[in-house]
Amino acid sequence: MDSGRGKFNACRAPVFHRLFSVLTVSHWLEPRKDVRLRLKLGIIGYGGRASGMAKNLGVFDIPYRVAAVADPRWEEIKGAGDEFLKDAVFYENADDLLAQEELDGVMVGTRCFLHTEMACKVATRNVPLFLEKPVAISFEQVARLDKAFQSFTAPSVVSFPLRLSPIVLTVKEMIEAGEIGQVEHAVAFNDVPYAAVYYTNWYRNYDEVGGLFLQKATHDLDYLYYLVGHRPKWICAMKAQRVYGGDKPFDLKCKDCEEQDACPESPFNWFYKGFQGNKLVQDDSRLCMFAEGIRNEDQGNCLVEYENGAQVSYTQNFFARFKSAQRGARLYGYKGTIYFDWYRNQIQLYKHQSPVVKTIDFTGNMPHFGGDRELCFDFLLAMKEGRPSRSPIEAGILSALTCLWARESAETRKFCEIVMPQGCK
Ligand SMILES: NC(=O)c1ccc[n+]([C@@H]2O[C@H](COP(=O)([O-])OP(=O)(O)OC[C@H]3O[C@@H](n4cnc5c(N)ncnc54)[C@H](O)[C@@H]3O)[C@@H](O)[C@H]2O)c1
Repeated sequence: MDSGRGKFNACRAPVFHRLFSVLTVSHWLEPRKDVRLRLKLGIIGYGGRASGMAKNLGVFDIPYRVAAVADPRWEEIKGAGDEFLKDAVFYENADDLLAQEELDGVMVGTRCFLHTEMACKVATRNVPLFLEKPVAISFEQVARLDKAFQSFTAPSVVSFPLRLSPIVLTVKEMIEAGEIGQVEHAVAFNDVPYAAVYYTNWYRNYDEVGGLFLQKATHDLDYLYYLVGHRPKWICAMKAQRVYGGDKPFDLKCKDCEEQDACPESPFNWFYKGFQGNKLVQDDSRLCMFAEGIRNEDQGNCLVEYENGAQVSYTQNFFARFKSAQRGARLYGYKGTIYFDWYRNQIQLYKHQSPVVKTIDFTGNMPHFGGDRELCFDFLLAMKEGRPSRSPIEAGILSALTCLWARESAETRKFCEIVMPQGCK
């Protein structure tokens, strides 16, 4: 990381210089071994996502360690004996962790309904924050979060991998280079092929998630704001549950269902008709998608007008599968159209004033469309150097606010202005 270091050629230097160089290099390497000098990370909510992202931080070889974990499941987590957590002190709750630990950064990976509460606790400590999305699931929460972060000066990273994916970063460069002119209009789409997750496990609990504008569109409305370059001002939306939900008991599991041979969503048919996996693997925890009490919609649409007058329509669908998956947008300026789709890993630029199409293919292996790496990089540098992130809390708050107004519009059938609600404390 130290650019000056590489300029010294140890092989050509006199012996004492070489010795000095070896000592210097070994000193430089030493902090990696010395546990006290590694970045100290605290994690609140050590579930599937946070454990994955915490481990992902290691890809950049910047020395860090998990110094503390707060999770009501701490005994189970500790008992699993993961070497990755060997230096961690375990706490039952976030308050104790924050009161007792001096940390370089805190990651919040609880379920959605707890993000605001945990982020507000971290805000009082003013340490670099990595916060899972959506950052809030109610108007009351988003107003509270906004207030709590007014005086927060440390860097914050909201977990929006799409905004930092190589495709969006490239599209942003193209827009800034004037390839299509100002973005006047966009059509964005998200046909989610893995959407069973929103009906078969905890994501179906509306009180924990707040519906699928907040769960899913928060990513898309964030990257659209980033690309349009102006704040969203007005929104109208619709949503519907046309396929999932039904009259089965809420807690019915596929393994206990009499219709698993016929049901197209059963593990049996996912393997047999859907060709998923090499042999049938029963998922004993999978819950019925056709159960009463599931409130998540399975389609949603919104129209957004931005402060400069640009307009975007965004649509998300949760029963598209396999090759019908698509996620991306067409962005229109007077000079051209940019089309991109993460599932095709491609950008196309259509010129409007000459019959030209340029195609950019992305060929690298990019899990989560490549954005998780960028989030990790920003959080590491936030902890190491206090560097501001490219996905800050303001973006998380604006996106959650936009999604909340989308949900409100869909429920009230009114156009809504995207403003912080008055009267929420
Ligand atoms: N950014 C992304 O692309 C992305 C991808 C996947 C998941 N997520 C988000 O990550 C979040 C977590 O999802 P998950 O699948 O890891 O959930 P999970 O249930 O596996 O993990 C949540 C953890 O929080 C713990 N917890 C519960 N109450 C707590 C409390 N009061 N204090 C501290 N910890 C507490 C639970 O014990 C659990 O370990 C969700 O909000 C989800 O939307 C984001």
